[in-house]
Amino acid sequence: MSANRGQFGSKFGFIMAAAGSAVGLGNIWRFPYVVGQNGGGAFVFVYIVCVVLIGLPLIYNEVALGRMTARNTVGAFKSTGANKFWIYTGAVLALCVSFFVLSYYGVIAGWTIGYIISEFTDFISNFETFRSSPGYVIPFFAVFMLASVAIVLGGISGGIEKASKILMPVLFVLLFAVMFRSLTLDGAMEGVKYYLTPDFTKINGRVILSALGQAFFSLSVGWGILITYGSYLPKDQNIVSSGAWIGVMDTAVAFFSGLMIFPAVFAFGKNPSEGTALVFNVLPEIFNSLPAGGQIVGASFFLLLCVAALTSSISMIEVPGSYLIDEKKWNRKKASWVVGILAFLVGIPSALSGGSSEFFTSMSLNLFGETKTGFLDIMDALFGGLFIVIVALMTCLYTGWVINIKTVSNEIEQGSLFFSRPLVAGITPAQIWIFFIRFVCPLVIGLVLLSTVGII
Ligand code: PFF
Repeated sequence: MSANRGQFGSKFGFIMAAAGSAVGLGNIWRFPYVVGQNGGGAFVFVYIVCVVLIGLPLIYNEVALGRMTARNTVGAFKSTGANKFWIYTGAVLALCVSFFVLSYYGVIAGWTIGYIISEFTDFISNFETFRSSPGYVIPFFAVFMLASVAIVLGGISGGIEKASKILMPVLFVLLFAVMFRSLTLDGAMEGVKYYLTPDFTKINGRVILSALGQAFFSLSVGWGILITYGSYLPKDQNIVSSGAWIGVMDTAVAFFSGLMIFPAVFAFGKNPSEGTALVFNVLPEIFNSLPAGGQIVGASFFLLLCVAALTSSISMIEVPGSYLIDEKKWNRKKASWVVGILAFLVGIPSALSGGSSEFFTSMSLNLFGETKTGFLDIMDALFGGLFIVIVALMTCLYTGWVINIKTVSNEIEQGSLFFSRPLVAGITPAQIWIFFIRFVCPLVIGLVLLSTVGII
């Protein structure tokens, strides 16, 4: 079976595809609003610790599991002898995460299309009115989903890989330009202080869970995507350095997004904890404040945000899609259309939850003491937060304790020989990694989950 599967042509191609999946709305839209809801600097600190200590070992784990089995997410569990429990909690739940997040991710990406057009036509007077107009929101959502399906249909390598190589650096340049403007606004330093001064009394179980969830959301860990992409990675490629690159790029974009948003939040007197609307309320103000060329900068910025979302959404289609292709023997066309159309239909309540439908807008869910209001926010808290963390926990318990972890660490070693060479005192990076996957990661994730649900 592995002989017929596609492969990435180079390490760079793999890093670009995986970074394209990682860098998306999670970095620029989700990271700042979650920072704002969790009290600022302390969250940023916990987030970076989570990325390095928990996210990175899990990236290696997923990529190696994929390359070792050369199968999709469910196939990777099945072919290593998983029973139903592990298949459902590790793999099927991962497919659900990808599918359900895609359903509302497309809605938000649709908003970015509206904002691109509005930079020239000014049809959006404020975010709340725009968000509550189904006549705008649903067609933009549909256009975004169609574009995603069209790319997955045509294959990913040529177009999207090539485009990412150019567009990702451009996104960086624009991000820096807007960040510079934001930092030079009157009153910007208040925002920098809020963002970078940790108040450690604000850290509790819920804050750590949000940080873990955000790290996994952003790094694309706990969705099956890295297993799927790993299955296309040639044996001689270095998993350790590729994974580190993905982590560094992704975290850099998130970090700079915060440095772009928070100075402006304080300079314009906005509320940092307002939630999912934060970036859409703040960014246009920065563009309007530019002495010249604000429209062009604004439109380019939202265009690139939309492209970053596109390189992410195609990989979300790819996770359930590759399952249907490999395991159910569907062709790529049928699998992509079915996943895309179903995600669109399931996403309609999210699209209507910004004020168009009273029912979907005001519904609320109390999740372990924190109330989420609106269908989209509820989906984001459940699928974009809690369930990703559960999948990540199950995946590391599975490789750490159910299958022979040595086989996975041997897989990482192929293409990264130093992995099994002693670092200090005869200890190898492989031994450290195994210790993290077997003990540190499950213990930290498990404790955080238990403390969030109030058991400890
Ligand atoms: N990491 C992406 C983001 O931060 O926007 C979200 C994501 C895309 C996760 C695709 C997983 C995935 F398969």
